Amino acid sequence: MSIESVLHENRVFPPSEAFKAAARISGIEAYRALCAEAEADYGGFWGRQARELIDWHKPFTRTLDESNAPFFKWFEDGELNVSYNCLDRHLATRGDKTAIIFEGDRGDVTKVSYRELHARVCRFANALKAQGVVKGDRVVIYLPMSIEAVVAMQACARIGAIHSVVFGGFSSKSLNERIVDAGAVLVITSDGQFRGGKAMPLKPAVDEALTLGGTGSVRAVIVYKRTDAGAEMQAGRDIWWHEAEAGQPEQCDPVFSSAEHPLFILYTSGSTGKPKGVQHSSGGYLLGTLASLNWVFDLNEQDVFWCTADVGWITGHSYVAYGPLAAGATQVVFEGVPTYPDAGRFWRMIQDHKVSIFYTAPTAIRSLIKAGGDLPKSYDLSSLRLLGSVGEPINPEAWIWYYNVVGGARCPIVDTWWQTETGSHMISPLPGAVDLKPGSCTFPLPGIMADIVDEVGGDVELGKGGFLVIKRPFPSQVRTLWGDPERFKSAYFPPELKGYYLAGDSANRDPDGYFWIMGRIDDVLNVSGHRLGTMEIESALVANPLVAEAAVVGKPHDIKGEAVVAFVVLKGARAEGEEARKTAAALREWVGQQIGPIAKPDEIRFGENLPKTRSGKIMRRLLRALAKGEEITQDVSTLENPAILEQLKEAVK
Ligand code: WT7
Repeated sequence: MSIESVLHENRVFPPSEAFKAAARISGIEAYRALCAEAEADYGGFWGRQARELIDWHKPFTRTLDESNAPFFKWFEDGELNVSYNCLDRHLATRGDKTAIIFEGDRGDVTKVSYRELHARVCRFANALKAQGVVKGDRVVIYLPMSIEAVVAMQACARIGAIHSVVFGGFSSKSLNERIVDAGAVLVITSDGQFRGGKAMPLKPAVDEALTLGGTGSVRAVIVYKRTDAGAEMQAGRDIWWHEAEAGQPEQCDPVFSSAEHPLFILYTSGSTGKPKGVQHSSGGYLLGTLASLNWVFDLNEQDVFWCTADVGWITGHSYVAYGPLAAGATQVVFEGVPTYPDAGRFWRMIQDHKVSIFYTAPTAIRSLIKAGGDLPKSYDLSSLRLLGSVGEPINPEAWIWYYNVVGGARCPIVDTWWQTETGSHMISPLPGAVDLKPGSCTFPLPGIMADIVDEVGGDVELGKGGFLVIKRPFPSQVRTLWGDPERFKSAYFPPELKGYYLAGDSANRDPDGYFWIMGRIDDVLNVSGHRLGTMEIESALVANPLVAEAAVVGKPHDIKGEAVVAFVVLKGARAEGEEARKTAAALREWVGQQIGPIAKPDEIRFGENLPKTRSGKIMRRLLRALAKGEEITQDVSTLENPAILEQLKEAVK
């Protein structure tokens, strides 16, 4: 395999002397010293971090157990409670400190202190117990961005229940699959949510999901009242949040468990149709979030932290619901969208709440440049001191705009590479230590043995591309896939790679050793910073009675990063003209219902067939070239039916 890097970016941005002087990790030597400590005594290094950053109910005596690889265990005989670490331990010193500044879609602001949040989590944890939820039970959370979403997650953590948050944009079918796979006993949702000035219902999707079968494990549905939409309440199953909580005490003893007790499951796309239930631990996961908040976000007591990700994604787990609370920070939580009431919303919120650390995705940055590249200049953004990026490589133009226009050429940008499976940052600049290069996530964090290898796990020289791997187990990594340990092994630890964790990305290192992420090596698209399996969308398409066959590929998109292009063969004749338009519209709707609006194909192209080799394999490389509108220069002599290429050149308009 040869993967060539196409990015050539030579500008270098060192941290200012002032930033460097005040940083927790100050200067490249301090970073190297931490890395050297981890190299010299790996267990000792992580053991020290775990003792310093986490409050243990019972101390651990063993750091890492590799005896049953790749099912690694960290701090296993230690006992802790994650909610205790996020709330109780702050009460004496930070009880009155604001934990969450919540801003609703319509501009309503609610602040809760650590003491109030603790009381609310305890009350709701007691409500869960009253519904019969016990340690180890799975609870599905399908809520909009809200204080309640954080309360629900923390309440599960408090009693040892394992949550599975399902993003509110997923369809009832996707929700059903996740409820069934996890065997959930309870679902927490809301009547609706506000987005872009409109109230949108949420509860009907739960009702629908629970009629689709396989959900016999679900005993109750708790419904938070957010809008005036109302909800149809099924007697004996559904209960309002406020009624479930009524009369419950504001004290609830945390359930202390082994550090290996699963904290949550989060489903993510893989290269086959079925989503993967990524299972995370309690101790190692918490450690990863806390260490990265110190190192990467350089978090201090007086910071106001804002991560714009939804709690339905891993970023919202690690850098909204858990990490910032465990660190005792003040953070902003936002219900709405960046463009409502106008494209200055983020900048106005940074100004109003005096945000000092702002963390968002390149797709949001690109869309805000397009909607109003000068808008940040109308706001006072002087509270900012650090910016972050996550989800996909940030293109240098967007980086430079973010740096100059949002950050006033004063704030370092931490481009954080990580995944649902890694739980916390893996490769990212430490902002007071590393000189930045726009588009590069720079270097691995201390104690993260990330590297680039060839297809047999051999080292590749600087400047050559290869597979991104992590060579040693690390505390916050995925423990298994829920109910599917075999898939866990084959997806992440292929035998030819010497037991290294395979991330599924290709990457390259420049002559200075900087890491540059180049893209996925599997059939996974990155649309607006979200992973979508091409197979998942193909399965949804062929489940439609009109469709005989479908193939999905990505093509570059200015704002989304990648757009979804679907090549479809209908069971009847190939659709043309008005009929093609209607069928394409119907199929897009269908995919929206099957998976969720984010998966809707941007383009549909109809053919009488798909380009296949004589052995019947779909030629995906050819489809990718067609999607991009490239001239077909590759050899098509192995193609069974070259004539259909013409048909597939045009998207339905
Ligand atoms: C995939 C993981 C990690 C939270 C958000 C997405 C891509 C993520 C970066 C970055 C280049 C990135 C990778 C990765 N990715 N961050 N800073 N630079 N690529 O989590 O849905 O698990 O997706 O997102 O391809 O494998 P996810």
